[in-house]
Amino acid sequence: MSQILVTGGAGYIGSHTVLELLENGDEVIVIDNLSNSKLESLKRVEELSGKKIIFHQIDLLNKDDLGAEFKKYDIDAVIHFAGLKAVGESVKIPLSYYQNNLTGTLNLLGAMKEHGVKKLVFSSSATVYGDPDSVPITEAFPTSATNPYGRSKLIIEEILRDLYVSDNEWDIILLRYFNPVGAHKSGRIGEDPAGIPNNLMPYISKVAVGQLEILPVYGNDYDTPDGTGVRDYIHVVDLALGHLKALEHLSVHPGLEAINLGTGRGYSVFEILHAFEQASGKTVAFEIKPRRTGDIAKCFADTSKADDVLGWKAERDLAEMCEDAWRWQSMNPNGY
Ligand code: NAD
Ligand code: WQD
Repeated sequence: MSQILVTGGAGYIGSHTVLELLENGDEVIVIDNLSNSKLESLKRVEELSGKKIIFHQIDLLNKDDLGAEFKKYDIDAVIHFAGLKAVGESVKIPLSYYQNNLTGTLNLLGAMKEHGVKKLVFSSSATVYGDPDSVPITEAFPTSATNPYGRSKLIIEEILRDLYVSDNEWDIILLRYFNPVGAHKSGRIGEDPAGIPNNLMPYISKVAVGQLEILPVYGNDYDTPDGTGVRDYIHVVDLALGHLKALEHLSVHPGLEAINLGTGRGYSVFEILHAFEQASGKTVAFEIKPRRTGDIAKCFADTSKADDVLGWKAERDLAEMCEDAWRWQSMNPNGY
């Protein structure tokens, strides 16, 4: 049984991954400062799994607290989710994003190095592809950033490459997530954004449940079949399972790899809207608005590397993503 340290494990993707780890028989230590999550998520993960999570409310900016975790536990590997993730907010408060995401990661890497823990799975993002020239996007595509959030991911990827060059004993996987959506089948854990959601699926959910009036559709004049933006939405449970495959891979094939986690299929805003209406039986009102700054027309993954290297493929389809998102939203209209 291995001990896995999960930073940001109380958050949306973290909590779903912790559940899968526990169900796989791993022992999990979560550290989170709860700046964008609630402890209730982990309580529910304990309920669902019937297992205990070791949890410490720790900020990655606090080196001493972080060091103490590595002294106290015999950690085999780290999954590093903790970070701030709102693109628009990152444009307004870039220094906070750099401080939190970069300094937090540097502190984590320093503690790992000091304690000889060299296996890491890092939450990167498809945002590192900037505005790609074509789709599907392979890992070999050039990277760039269009906002401070994305730049923080790109810089961390580069820091990790430098670290690996300096010491080949590090085993690192950079998982580049496309658009995570949906929730665990139980409807007990899910995405719980504070305030008005930035992302499409939680916004639609809140219109369907009657908390928001109308979905703004940001642009219907893109070069896509129906004019709205196309993205690769991936069920959060498939994404969580990708992390387990990444950990397995780290144990047998050392090295540094960047790997896309997506389905390889793009859906437009209207396709998502209609699939959600079908899954929920609700009508979702929408209005066409101007394009959102920084948005691109199309983004979806070439997923062959995940299949070849990790033996992982997303299995849950769009209907399931919408049904599960709706179950979570309707069972927990006010979140946790
Ligand atoms: P989330 O906000 O739900 O989870 C992140 C967690 O990290 C939160 O629980 C937050 O409290 C914690 N955290 C933040 N700063 C911290 C700090 N300094 N110390 C300790 N804990 C801290 O976000 P998520 O959607 O679960 O995303 C997880 C990771 O995946 C993030 O790194 C995010 O950038 C990345 N990612 C997310 C998406 C997405 O659309 N959700 C897409 C691509 C990549
Ligand atoms: C999807 C589509 C919008 C909201 C973001 C980050 C990315 C990654 C995932 C972290 C687009 C349209 C949206 C709305 C809309 N996160 N939309 N009305 O922008 O692809 O990716 O989250 O790494 O870095 O940029 O996701 O869900 O915001 O948008 O019409 O109210 O839905 O224009 O076409 P995005 P999204």
